[in-house]
Amino acid sequence: MIKCDIGFARKFIKDDAYFKARKKADTALEQLRNKTGPGSEWLGWRDLLADPNDAELEQIGSLGEEVRAKADVFIVCGIGGSYLGAKAIIDALSPHFGSKGPEIIFAGHHVGGKYLEEMLAYLKEPKGDGSAKNIYLNVISKSGSTLETALAFRMLRELLEEMYGDDSSEHIICTTSKEGGLLNKVIAEKGYRKFIIPDDVGGRYSVLTPVGLLPIAVAGIDIRTLFYGAVSAYNEYEDNAEDLLEYAALRNAIHESGKTIDVFATFEPELTSLGGWIQQLLGESEGKEGKGIFPTVATFSTDLHSLGQFIQQGKRSLMETFIIVEKPFSKLRVNEIKGDGDALNYLAGRSFHEINTKAREGTTEAHSEGDVPIIKISMEALNAENIGQLIYFFELLTGIFVYSLGVNPFNQPGVEDYKKAMYRLLGK
Ligand code: PA5
Repeated sequence: MIKCDIGFARKFIKDDAYFKARKKADTALEQLRNKTGPGSEWLGWRDLLADPNDAELEQIGSLGEEVRAKADVFIVCGIGGSYLGAKAIIDALSPHFGSKGPEIIFAGHHVGGKYLEEMLAYLKEPKGDGSAKNIYLNVISKSGSTLETALAFRMLRELLEEMYGDDSSEHIICTTSKEGGLLNKVIAEKGYRKFIIPDDVGGRYSVLTPVGLLPIAVAGIDIRTLFYGAVSAYNEYEDNAEDLLEYAALRNAIHESGKTIDVFATFEPELTSLGGWIQQLLGESEGKEGKGIFPTVATFSTDLHSLGQFIQQGKRSLMETFIIVEKPFSKLRVNEIKGDGDALNYLAGRSFHEINTKAREGTTEAHSEGDVPIIKISMEALNAENIGQLIYFFELLTGIFVYSLGVNPFNQPGVEDYKKAMYRLLGK
């Protein structure tokens, strides 16, 4: 199960501030459990773990296998909560190089023309043996009307129609709400296969619905193990959520103390995208009514050579949350070489895991001395089950923490403002 170590942060907060925040966290958890807080109509992300839909998991799993067997390229077209979860889990659990199965690429998450133009050209390019690439596309949009996604989908759909004619609908799978939205109109017109995003699950809480599960299955990851990892976390925290209550209370007390930035840092490059998912989950949930700690992501030790100086000695507005994997998942060790010209033989025989762990311990020591409160969240191993647990851990933490701030964790009214201005400028 997920471990939460608040020891390096607790000393920054006085007891009375912590206990006051702890009471708020207790109330927040009750609001989530009793569905009495603001936005309680969007608590479906808890219900789907309380009562797993095995038939749907099976259906998604077998379609994932089918697409994996047939596709050369699988495009995930979505933005925000409609792609970040899938990307996080695929990046965490897939090989960095030479991955088997289809190449997974993302679209619809911005309106950068060069990216899409090059993607369209790349998709048209034949394979090394001269045959055409077999392309599958999963468009994901709960509202069915998000500009970035809809625009990329239009361009990609046109390409697939050009390539496959009437058979193009075989290559397109849509994930959207049961009813409403323009995507549902296109689905009705073209007869595309469709998965439903439950109405009571918001975008950033939807990774364990078809939104995330289909792309994750196509990547060859065992979605049942992932999902049931989350179910085990759900069951555990329904029984005893002490760790989460302490974490939420402390983060709230740190927020009250004036810290404005939370750097979600991992020492494992595989987990950078997971940081991106956490960033969106917390950021879009907590950043309202002038409140919240701005979540940002760093990968150490890489970013110790870019942000490390600021974290150590810049304006003291930061806290850090380290995302840790305890068990080694690489066997690589340092060799001894003759002559020791690069003076690295003192590391000979030691694993990269050990060196990375020492980098983390050294960073913890230095940043703590630099007055940065650090919270450590650890999973035992890098596997689907533990990632499933971590997903629910952060969903529940977000619900508790954001209710403790007194705001609705499940809406995002501020996102509409840029859309309104953009549509006006585009003459919609
Ligand atoms: O968490 C959210 O609700 C958002 O980030 C959405 O996922 C994002 O805006 C995409 O919306 P849609 O799925 O409706 O295209």
